[in-house]
Amino acid sequence: MSNDPLLQPYQLKHLTLRNRIIVTAHEPAYPEDGLPKERYRAYTVERAKGGVAMTMTAGSAAVSKDSPPVFNNLLAYKDEIVPWIREMTDAVHEEGAAIMIQLTHLGRRTRWDKGEWLPVVAPSHHREASHRAFPKKIEDWDIERIIKDFADAAERMKAGGMDGVELEAYGHLIDQFASPLTNELDGPYGGSLDNRMRFCFDVLKAIRARVGDDFILGVRYTADECLPGGTGKEEGLEISKRLKQSGLIDYLNVIRGHIDTDAGLTDVIPIQGMANSPHLDFAGEIRAATNFPTFHAAKIPDVATARHAIASGKVDMVGMTRAHMTDPHIVRKIIEKREEDIRPCVGANYCLDRIYQGGAAYCIHNAATGRELTMPHSIAKADRRKKVVIIGAGPAGLEAARVAGERGHEVVVFEAANDPGGQIRLTAQSERRREMISIIDWRMSQCEKLGVTFHFNSWAEADTVQAENPDVVIIATGGLPHTEVLSKGNELVVSAWDIISGDVKPGTNVLIFDDAGDHAGLQAAEFIAKAGGKVEIMTPDRSFAPEVMAMNLVPYMRSLQKLDVTFTVTYRLEAVEKSGNELVAHVGSDYGGIAKQRTFDQIVINHGTIPLDDLYFELKPASSNLGEVLHDQLIAGRPQTAWRNADGKFQLFRIGDAVAARNTHAAIYDALRLVKDI
Ligand SMILES: Cc1cc2nc3c(=O)[nH]c(=O)nc-3n(C[C@H](O)[C@H](O)[C@H](O)COP(=O)(O)O)c2cc1C
Ligand code: SF4
Repeated sequence: MSNDPLLQPYQLKHLTLRNRIIVTAHEPAYPEDGLPKERYRAYTVERAKGGVAMTMTAGSAAVSKDSPPVFNNLLAYKDEIVPWIREMTDAVHEEGAAIMIQLTHLGRRTRWDKGEWLPVVAPSHHREASHRAFPKKIEDWDIERIIKDFADAAERMKAGGMDGVELEAYGHLIDQFASPLTNELDGPYGGSLDNRMRFCFDVLKAIRARVGDDFILGVRYTADECLPGGTGKEEGLEISKRLKQSGLIDYLNVIRGHIDTDAGLTDVIPIQGMANSPHLDFAGEIRAATNFPTFHAAKIPDVATARHAIASGKVDMVGMTRAHMTDPHIVRKIIEKREEDIRPCVGANYCLDRIYQGGAAYCIHNAATGRELTMPHSIAKADRRKKVVIIGAGPAGLEAARVAGERGHEVVVFEAANDPGGQIRLTAQSERRREMISIIDWRMSQCEKLGVTFHFNSWAEADTVQAENPDVVIIATGGLPHTEVLSKGNELVVSAWDIISGDVKPGTNVLIFDDAGDHAGLQAAEFIAKAGGKVEIMTPDRSFAPEVMAMNLVPYMRSLQKLDVTFTVTYRLEAVEKSGNELVAHVGSDYGGIAKQRTFDQIVINHGTIPLDDLYFELKPASSNLGEVLHDQLIAGRPQTAWRNADGKFQLFRIGDAVAARNTHAAIYDALRLVKDI
């Protein structure tokens, strides 16, 4: 048996967990009608297959109708959920993993205009900044009803074969009772710590009475809100001890921080550029003070840090949640001594930011996550070895090369630059976004193992490609910054990429016209402002940088608000003219009736990229499919059979930004879903 601390079993009451790695609660927003159907099951089972000890399904499955599904949560209040839960728990148990579910009442952390349009309830009228609902102050009959709802939901989960339930307290109704900042009730549920904790203990007692002892019960709670006037560390320690002493629960799942604002949430669940494992020592302190089974997760993305968390005795079970969204087979790879093959989580938080925008969670660089019913995590070998030539070694080209290599094909990649990475290499120039380069590095090391041939500094012409005698050619040449958006003066502006790459020196009084609204605009702003420039970011949109999304915006704002950067929404840059050493910006508005003039010394435009597609169009006449992609075959996961030119010698496809400006996930998904069937 291995002596790896991570691979040691753990006895949690009657439940034997096969190792020390868990996936903590996270709602990927895959439910259909609030139920965990085939897609949800496939996602969950993939992680169990990958070897994880326990998977905590759902995040925040709703126990009551007035806890509306604000990010497409599971609805644990529905009786019809039980058979779906049963199918999922049976399938996970078959793979040797334990499975629990997290239950909650969101309290004020939701919206009233979802679900049944019931008023949101909380122990005060204070609204939560993130979800904006002004709550009704909870009444005695609400409290009784919700306690019963928790017990009913737990009973449903036990009937569905779950090994246990976890209560989501932090930021939700249970901790809204516990925190002095959100509880303005009088006794018996407000005032002293005894009173503020009463709701939590009433819920736990009601659940225990219903499910009995042979069912795991845990609480995920904040033991330090890190907010003036909130639950501080001292009170958090006291709460931890009381939870243990209650005898009602089997483990603590420790959180530090508050989640009522985007900034608070980002400190609880740190993103790229923020420190790894920031709350691990704190969780260790709680464990030491309580001597009680302790779980914890917060940016422990790599095996070495996870191993340290266990070996040092700071926690009993370590959560690697986003890490498992990037690679569901972490434990299997540890056991097989293939840690270097683990696809690394780069903390991009595309997954989490999407659910807060009402979308499903997707991993920025694993397009199979959440698409297990159609996209493989492990690529099958092809029946016939083909020669695949790929042009471009950005994320799309490298994913195509990796997948083609896994298929067993002979793969040759041409890249015009010195190094692989394309736009990601530029993105990673920003210190805070350096982790992005792992998207490239991991693919390069996988390609090396698969024997892919690379030609860097090679500008591939049509002849070069045809001389390879390919069966398949994939154009993944990406795009070039698109700045020609003005009625006049296009030659006077520079692109955001010119600034980020260092090709153009930052100005001192700069306008960034950003109607792409993605990272490049903000990265350029930060670059210029850090060099001492004054920056105005202008967008015709209703809000700036909409593609960056909530948690990703936090580190930018922390940096930009301290620098000389301002934001102007709803105005459009229409033209630029030169006047002496200055540039005159002609500004209008899509709403009409505005014509302003402003003066700057540099004007930067961020308007996405325009496809670099010359080679594709040169090769098109010589291809058998004339570049055609049959969408029905692509979507159904069948090989492409378009045949439009009897003289054609190879199939030709293009992917990623070489087709149209999109994002990294789209580029990687383009590559995976096409090449897995080649
Ligand atoms: C898509 C997504 C949804 C999440 N939803 C929940 C949730 O509903 N309840 C919860 O307690 N934590 C939730 N989390 C937080 C995770 O459980 C975990 O604490 C967090 O991702 C930090 O751990 P990690 O760095 O290992 O990913 C969510 C995380 C993600 C990525
Ligand atoms: S999107 Fe980013 S943070 Fe989320 S799982 Fe993927 S790599 Fe990790």
